[in-house]
Amino acid sequence: MAGPVVDVHTHLVPKGWPDLAARCGGTGWPWLRVDSERAAMIMVGETEFRPIGAEAWDAGTRLADMDADGVDVQVVSPTPVFFSYDRPADQAVKVARVFNDLTLELTAKSDRLVPFCQVPLQDPEAACAELDRCLADGHAGVEIGNHVGDRDLDDAGVVMFLRHCAEVGAPVFVHPWDMPGGPRLDRWMARWLTGMPAETHLSVLALVLGGVFDQVPETLRLCFAHGGGSFPFWLGRADNAWRRRGDVVRGRSAHPPSHYVGRFSVDSVVFDPAALRLLVDVLGDDQVMVGSDYPYPLGERPAGRVVHEADFLGAEQRDKLLSGNALRFLGRTR
Ligand code: CO
Repeated sequence: MAGPVVDVHTHLVPKGWPDLAARCGGTGWPWLRVDSERAAMIMVGETEFRPIGAEAWDAGTRLADMDADGVDVQVVSPTPVFFSYDRPADQAVKVARVFNDLTLELTAKSDRLVPFCQVPLQDPEAACAELDRCLADGHAGVEIGNHVGDRDLDDAGVVMFLRHCAEVGAPVFVHPWDMPGGPRLDRWMARWLTGMPAETHLSVLALVLGGVFDQVPETLRLCFAHGGGSFPFWLGRADNAWRRRGDVVRGRSAHPPSHYVGRFSVDSVVFDPAALRLLVDVLGDDQVMVGSDYPYPLGERPAGRVVHEADFLGAEQRDKLLSGNALRFLGRTR
């Protein structure tokens, strides 16, 4: 019997978060301009960051959309604008607590909503402590941004946190964020269209060439958003560079990049069956699972559409992508 369809990549924005300057200190925090019962705007200072609808905060709306899309379970992760890795750690600890607790209020409405927390990753000790607190309170895993300022995923502190995730059995969803801007990138959503895939590509490379996969336990469960960005398409280029310019490219890695493809998963939100096929061919059918980026406009609706429509998948493979791989990622049997 086919298992539950799981969407591993969705976000929430809770409604009614407190004044973050008063709660956490600091200035320039995001705030929510509520425009109507079902519409709001995430504001950063006086700038409109992103319009959102009730599906961002309302469990009933989410569940109705899941029913319409044939999704049984959603992993509900933070929206990266709240990560706050660039702030003093004590502020990031407080804001993480605020949003992690509000996430549980949403996901408590249904066992089909599985909460992932955020952590103050700029302070690895505090990040481990917040993860432990969240797991004890009912969170099932953690979403992290793909870098902390100039520190990538091979940073010693981040590696310590990843080790801790492996020890406590917490799945880690890595989401690109904080993409570089500038005149060439601040047009056409270029930071999302080219910046995000490049960020994710770089972070997978950092895990490989920084020797992280050689250091952390193989039990660490990692998933990268957006099909692993541009990494899977360019794996051959990375392998070639590792071999032919090993003097600069090998870094701390013991093996070429293709050696490590079994060590992480990616979601399926690539829209094009040809792209999905590349993911399955390059990474393997155990490493790809449905993610939609719900409820944002660059996400896939109905969630899982490309997996349902991919005619090259056999029934068993499709079930892995829709269900089995995500259940393994989450450490669940059903
Ligand atoms: Co996303």
